Amino acid sequence: MKYVLEARHIDKHFKKPVDFHVLKDISFTVRQGEFATVMGKSGSGKSTLLYILSTMDTDYTGELYLNGGLVTGKSHQILSRIRNEHIGFVFQFHYLLSEFSVLENVMLPGKKLGARTEEQIERDAREKLEMLNIGYLAEKRASRISGGEKQRVAIARALINNPTILMGDEPTGNLDSYNAENVLQIFTRLKEEQGLSLLVVTHDLDFAQRTDRIIEMEDGRIIKS
Ligand SMILES: Nc1ncnc2c1ncn2[C@@H]1O[C@H](COP(=O)(O)OP(=O)(O)O)[C@@H](O)[C@H]1O
Ligand SMILES: [Mg+2]
Repeated sequence: MKYVLEARHIDKHFKKPVDFHVLKDISFTVRQGEFATVMGKSGSGKSTLLYILSTMDTDYTGELYLNGGLVTGKSHQILSRIRNEHIGFVFQFHYLLSEFSVLENVMLPGKKLGARTEEQIERDAREKLEMLNIGYLAEKRASRISGGEKQRVAIARALINNPTILMGDEPTGNLDSYNAENVLQIFTRLKEEQGLSLLVVTHDLDFAQRTDRIIEMEDGRIIKS
């Protein structure tokens, strides 16, 4: 069985202002093509965990494997490459560059990775936008589109390098129910049609219950998975 993500005994302390044991012995796996959600009260450590799993935070103990390879202890340069190649990330707020066009926003991580020509990246970006039914937005400025459209652009951007796993920290937290439903359907389609793996933090129980699995956190621990 192929794991795209494996966390083994991850522990983390925040040391300031006082020592705080924020993550306690976190171990779990995500399989290829699995859609998992993380739920838990505010402050239970979900965002802190996702920061570690997406290789952005390296200050922890335990081991993290992505695609079967050990990630823990690698240099920042290698981590940046791994992140660009293997991980797509969608946040609650979209963080699009408002002065740039939708197309340019989607192309950016592709240019950063530098594995394809600019022409190829543009073709791929248009294809991602088409797949999310927003091809017609390509030439628009990111500041000129609606909130639901922005989040779909952010998903297209997260997919531009064909990641192994898509991670989201409350990606529907800022959306109305119509647009939240749209995002859930997009995620489900990506799993079913492309075998994408997803790990998404959500507050929305309806959303979580329609995914393969709910990982429940409380006080820095996984209490159910
Ligand atoms: N940089 C930090 N320094 C100290 N404590 C932090 C820091 N970031 C988050 N925390 C604390 O860690 C706990 C978990 O935070 P977080 O991972 O954001 O929770 P969640 O995403 O589940 O709401 C909270 O009690 C929060 O106050
Ligand atoms: Mg959070």
